[in-house]
Amino acid sequence: MERTLVIIKPDAMERKLMGKIISVYEQEGLHISSIKILKPSVETAESHYSEHKGKSFFTGLIEYITRGEVCVLIAEGDNAIERVRKINGATDPAEADKESIRGRFGISKTENSVHASDSVESAQREISIWFPELQ
Ligand code: CMP
Repeated sequence: MERTLVIIKPDAMERKLMGKIISVYEQEGLHISSIKILKPSVETAESHYSEHKGKSFFTGLIEYITRGEVCVLIAEGDNAIERVRKINGATDPAEADKESIRGRFGISKTENSVHASDSVESAQREISIWFPELQ
């Protein structure tokens, strides 16, 4: 059993795609064990994306992810990290599988609708940032 952190990002929330996106994970057999909706602080966003600090897109990424509500959730299941990344598709919606969430709903590399952890270590780190009450 593995856990991964998913963020349904502002572009998807603004277009009322939250329910549709959550049902994709559920239909693929993943269990949603925790979920919340919030408007991220700049501090939380910078902590979450700390590995990208200094990159050309960092400022725009923080502005975007803090501009409105996001839905953060923990998806559980066997091999959940890899399964969710496949369901989400490639970072750039233009290159993502057309059946994936980013392929269906993503707008650009920044406004790509969803985030998911990329490793067990990232999942642990990201869950502690967004769900500190679970520690
Ligand atoms: P995410 O999976 O949330 O993790 C890092 C995010 O940075 C990524 O999705 C994209 O939204 C964003 N990103 C990565 N590369 C670029 C890029 N070249 N230009 C703009 N945004 C990017």
